[in-house]
Order: sequence, then C-alpha cells, then structure tokens
Amino acid sequence: MKLIHTIAELRAELEGQGGRAFVPTMGNLHEGHLALVRQARAATAGPVIASIFVNRLQFLPHEDFDRYPRTLENDCRLLESAGCDLVFAPDERELYPEPQAYKLQPPAELADILEGHFRPGFFTGVCTVVYKLFNIVQPQIAIFGKKDYQQLMVLRRMVAQMALPIDVRGGETCRSAEGLALSSRNGYLSEAEKLEALRLSATLKGLIAGWQAGRRDVAQLEAEAMQALRAQGWLPDYVVLRRQRDLGTPEEGAPLVALAAAKLGATRLIDNLEL
Ligand code: PAF
Repeated sequence: MKLIHTIAELRAELEGQGGRAFVPTMGNLHEGHLALVRQARAATAGPVIASIFVNRLQFLPHEDFDRYPRTLENDCRLLESAGCDLVFAPDERELYPEPQAYKLQPPAELADILEGHFRPGFFTGVCTVVYKLFNIVQPQIAIFGKKDYQQLMVLRRMVAQMALPIDVRGGETCRSAEGLALSSRNGYLSEAEKLEALRLSATLKGLIAGWQAGRRDVAQLEAEAMQALRAQGWLPDYVVLRRQRDLGTPEEGAPLVALAAAKLGATRLIDNLEL
C-alpha cells in the first residue's frame, strides 16, 4: 500500500488504471471504515483508494475541528490490513491552496433539514470536498457509510445531478456487540457514557416499534422519544421518522428510516435505523 500526499503524485500513480473504488474518510478509523474498504476491495479488481482529510469546511467554529484525532500511522496500518492500495492524505495547503471560494451547494430541501439544520453549511462543506476528491481520484465506485444517512443521500443526489460517472454505494452501519453505532467520536465518551450511549439506538427502536404497532401520530411519537432522552440527561437535536427515499414525512407503504442526533455530555452522536 502506498501513502500519497499530493494530487500530482496520486494522478501519476493512478494513470491508466480503471475500476477505481474510493472510500473518503476523515481518518481516526474504526471497524466501520474498514468494512467500507473491504466492500470496495470486493467490488473491484482495480485499485482501492482511501482518502484521509479532516475537512475544515464542514465544521462550525465551535465544533471539534482542532481536537479531531489525527492518527495517520495507525490508520494506514488498518487500511492496509483491509485491502486498500493507495491512501491519499493531503494537507490543507494541498487541497485548499487558496480559500475555497467555489463551493457546491446542495438543495435546501435535503441539506437544510436535520443535520443541515443543526449544522448550517455542513453539507456544503461535505459536497465541496467530496466533489473535489472525486475530481482528483476519478473513481468508478465510491462507498459511504449509512451511519451518515443524510450525507449518503445528499452525495447520491449530487452525483446524479452533476452527471458524475460514479456508482455511489452505501455500507451498513457497524455496531458494537451491545448495539452502539461505531463512530470516530465515540472516543470522546467516558466508559459510563459509552453505556448510556446505547440508549440512542434503543430510542430509535422504540420509535419504529410505535409505528409498527399502528400508531400514526408521528409528531407525538417523536416528541415522546425526545422526552425519553431528555429524561436521561441527553440534549437531543432531533429524533424523527422519515421516508428513506427523500427524508420526507412518513407515508403508508413507503420504506422508512428513524434518525436521531443528540448530545451526551460534550459529545454529539448520530444514529439511524432503516425499517
Ligand atoms: O463522512 C466523512 O467522514 C466525511 O464527511 C467525508 C465524506 C469524508 C467528507 O469529508
């Protein structure tokens, strides 16, 4: 496996190689990322490329950009074991040699709700960096985790609308044996918080159980779920039931997904469950 830091080197290395499968990351990798890399490995006989870049554009000023763990050496070891061929780890000057004034703005109806409502500009930052990484890597396949459900949806729509010849695939969320969705931010949790964090997926299961039991008072179901989290000291941003297709209001017969974001202590966690 090769570690590459510049765009020119990466382009030279990939010259003439088709069937590129790409897994963009911000590093601090865990089993969830490695599952995406293995999925990429299984999907192509061509090169598997992973990027590691903590993208300033998608962080708000009060968020954890500065303290986001940078663990390149360990990440490379893990990526190699999962079958990655090339790691692209540019520094900020390489990817943003001048302030990134051209940005890719996703549509408000998809990107200003849920995560985008609580993290304004987040999806513009994500789309801008992913679009740029796609231009650099020029993959045929790109894989993103379903853990970031709305992100996957926003990026799928971007690829379709911008006519990029890329097959965007989702990877299933990896969970601990107890059910905690793996996340780079779980490292911020204390042992006690890790136990309490299980309540987030349990709350989503409760919401789904309510729908499956025939309740259609979705706003009330969601309010009860938020209240159950608050009662245990969480600060929930949202707990909602939505259509999988476009994150719109649930309707009979349409596949649904339950999504949540909530702060536990100083750490903001997100999770989702498809019905
Ligand atoms: O999901 C992530 O880790 C990031 O949002 C991504 C897609 C690598 C863009 O910075």
